[in-house]
Amino acid sequence: MPSPSAAPVVVVIGSVNMDLVVRAPHVPRPGETVLGHDFATIPGGKGANQAVAAAKLGADCHFVGRVGDDAFGQRLLAGMKAVGVNCDHVSVTEGVSTGVALIVVDELGENAITVSSGANAKLSIEDIEAAKATIASARVCLLQLEIPLETACYAIRLAKSLGVEVIVDTAPAPAADKVPQTLFEADILTPNETEAMILTGEPSSGKREARFVATALLERGAKNVVLKLGEKGSLCYDGNTFEHVKPFRIKPVDTTAAGDAFSAALAVSRAKGTPLAEAVLYANAAGAAACLKFGAQPAMPTTEEIRSLMMDSGVEPKA
Ligand code: RIB
Repeated sequence: MPSPSAAPVVVVIGSVNMDLVVRAPHVPRPGETVLGHDFATIPGGKGANQAVAAAKLGADCHFVGRVGDDAFGQRLLAGMKAVGVNCDHVSVTEGVSTGVALIVVDELGENAITVSSGANAKLSIEDIEAAKATIASARVCLLQLEIPLETACYAIRLAKSLGVEVIVDTAPAPAADKVPQTLFEADILTPNETEAMILTGEPSSGKREARFVATALLERGAKNVVLKLGEKGSLCYDGNTFEHVKPFRIKPVDTTAAGDAFSAALAVSRAKGTPLAEAVLYANAAGAAACLKFGAQPAMPTTEEIRSLMMDSGVEPKA
């Protein structure tokens, strides 16, 4: 067990992508061509973004993932290591491209993302087994769903069997008819409203009151749900008490990876033993702070940036 003063160990299992990003007046509709502005290649991938954010927020962060044997993979690995992410369990997959994401960011900072999984699709149960000792040393294991579902489910079960708190960021949501029950074995599920509808078996385009959706997720087996409500903040539900956690109002530059900053901040706070609603407040601030800069990994906030955003909103940071 780590000493109480040591940085808490957080293991992030997930994807790593190079983001190919263009700013444009709006996201193109089907069949439309839009003239965009500048083009940039920016380190991303939900898993890697969360690992970078967790390291920046003071965790002893270990990342489990796969890159291809190409220049993108080398650059992504170097970037993660530069901020202190332990990449001992990142494998280089021969003959496969590193994951890439095609991203258009519009004038309001909203985005549309298409991912080509590449090496992420090769992350296997054997890779998770190889990281077992590291997972066992963690206080929190954080996953998202840009890796094979079978691998994610194996990791959830393994981490749970080792007594590690498991947080699953349910992005991107699986197809409605392919939602594995194992996802609900996580200690904390953090869907947005669309993902939550899919997880509950309702049409993703449907609208339901947040408490109804959170209740439906508990009925499917979830222990704790943190429903991300965007500009309305978050709703925590543990089966007994609903707690609405306030949002932080900002003018977004780019919302890409805001959810990743949220998940990482939640994981680091929980790893420090912070009660759920307090950890979610910090996570809401982290998500907002990530929207103030362009790109995914470069926008992952520091503790100081989150604290300052909270204080600007009249909230005294406890973390
Ligand atoms: O959550 C944002 C991330 O989603 C991007 O960095 C992109 O790579 C996709 O994985």
